[in-house]
Amino acid sequence: MASESFCDDGVPTRRAVVFHYSQTGQLTEAMEAFIAPLAAAGWHIRQVAVTPAQPYPFPWSIRKFFGVFPTCVDDRAEIELATPDSEFHIAPDELIVLAYQVWYLSPSLPMRTVLNTHPEMFADRAVVSVVACRKMWYSAVLEVEQRLTELGARHLGAAVATDTRPQLITLITTLRWMFGGRRRTRGPLGRAGIDDRELDRLRECGRAWSDLSPTETERTVIGAPVKYPVAGADLMAGRLFRRWGSMIRAATRRSPALGAVAVSAFVVWLGLSLAILPLAVLLALPLHRRIDRAIDRRLGDIPRLARPAAADIASTAVDLGRPAPRYRLRRHSGEEITVPDPRDEGFLLLCGEEAEPRWRDAIGYVRIMDTTPIAALTISRTATPDARPHEAADTNGEHPNGGRLDVHDRADDAPQGYGPNAPVGGAFDGQRLYDPSGSALDGYGLHDGRAVLVGPGGVVAAVLRGADPHQELIRAMTTGLAR
Ligand SMILES: Cc1cc2nc3c(=O)[nH]c(=O)nc-3n(C[C@H](O)[C@H](O)[C@H](O)COP(=O)(O)O)c2cc1C
Repeated sequence: MASESFCDDGVPTRRAVVFHYSQTGQLTEAMEAFIAPLAAAGWHIRQVAVTPAQPYPFPWSIRKFFGVFPTCVDDRAEIELATPDSEFHIAPDELIVLAYQVWYLSPSLPMRTVLNTHPEMFADRAVVSVVACRKMWYSAVLEVEQRLTELGARHLGAAVATDTRPQLITLITTLRWMFGGRRRTRGPLGRAGIDDRELDRLRECGRAWSDLSPTETERTVIGAPVKYPVAGADLMAGRLFRRWGSMIRAATRRSPALGAVAVSAFVVWLGLSLAILPLAVLLALPLHRRIDRAIDRRLGDIPRLARPAAADIASTAVDLGRPAPRYRLRRHSGEEITVPDPRDEGFLLLCGEEAEPRWRDAIGYVRIMDTTPIAALTISRTATPDARPHEAADTNGEHPNGGRLDVHDRADDAPQGYGPNAPVGGAFDGQRLYDPSGSALDGYGLHDGRAVLVGPGGVVAAVLRGADPHQELIRAMTTGLAR
């Protein structure tokens, strides 16, 4: 069961899923500029619009705009989403594009909610950030990178579009836009938000990034040019914002009136800080080389967007959170068994023969660390030495059904028993199953050391790449149980 689809030139279709939210459409424009070259290059792009159950007002009232601050800077915050949970799933060959704007130097609340409520989507995934904001993206993208690392994802970096005009002008025009709702107005200050040149830059960035045959020196793309004085102020203010946020939340828990006083104090502090910012930048000028180096260290590789590796987009047929495809495989004795059994309550790890040693060690480790039942099966492409002729094979020895082994919707008719109590006698759980046509191996994508973890109820809990089997397995079991 091959899942790869091919475009006209015979190149496998690359796939990406984009999670996005925008109030005014600016972020949507930026995201579309980045993905347009991917679509043109034959990528299959799935878009998921993340919609808050209670829409944020636009234009904002001053009260709402500052009232949302303490929640924005709370890294555990979640809001209710109108987007159905069923939209938050991921295929193993889909790259994740997280398209978000910045709210108070943090990822906006809808996107923070995606990270906090669907952590299982990100384990072992490659993720790229596409950001459109006024100017100050540094703390937000750094925070997203840290969260993705906690979730076991690989952040490839960020493509960021900003309003490139001077800081003070963008501050006035953005606030005028947010509170008045008008992006374009007559007058010397001009329009707010990102301009066409920034969109062109994102388009160029998407084009370079989607080209998967770069030379070694072209493995990265500059997705986010760093403006050092802005970055320094952003990274410093990001920490202070989080402190203010926890202080305001504590005050609000005591009494809403006290919370309102704390928010007002924050607004006064913010105004004063913005007023003295130019002076602070001037005073820091003599130290700017040292400060710039510190900023580079903190941002790491974020501004240099890495291109996806081949393994990030290699395809398999299984969808996370969906029932695992079921195959009839043969035991050594020739007896047939249907895998997986959705009635099973523990985990089942499926891997190919060549990857068995690394997964055997990982299973041993997990069993020491955790009491959650886990069984394991090795699937071998070789025919069993004493196998009876397969009933479903035709006289040429080929399988009907396109070479695929019989897949059943129900396991009731199949002999079972691969769980922890299954009889021992072969590979690392006493179970080696034979798949001479390779249908199950291909269908599960058990190549290059990969394994598939099936969770309770026969649902795919994770596709594990096998780069760090112990960690991948323990993390996948934890998020699989939390689901
Ligand atoms: C509550 C709020 C806080 C914001 N904070 C920041 C910020 O810290 N840094 C920044 O560059 N832009 C900030 N912005 C601007 C947004 O990042 C974004 O550019 C603008 O809201 C338009 O995005 P949209 O695509 O959702 O319409 C903020 C906007 C809002 C509404």
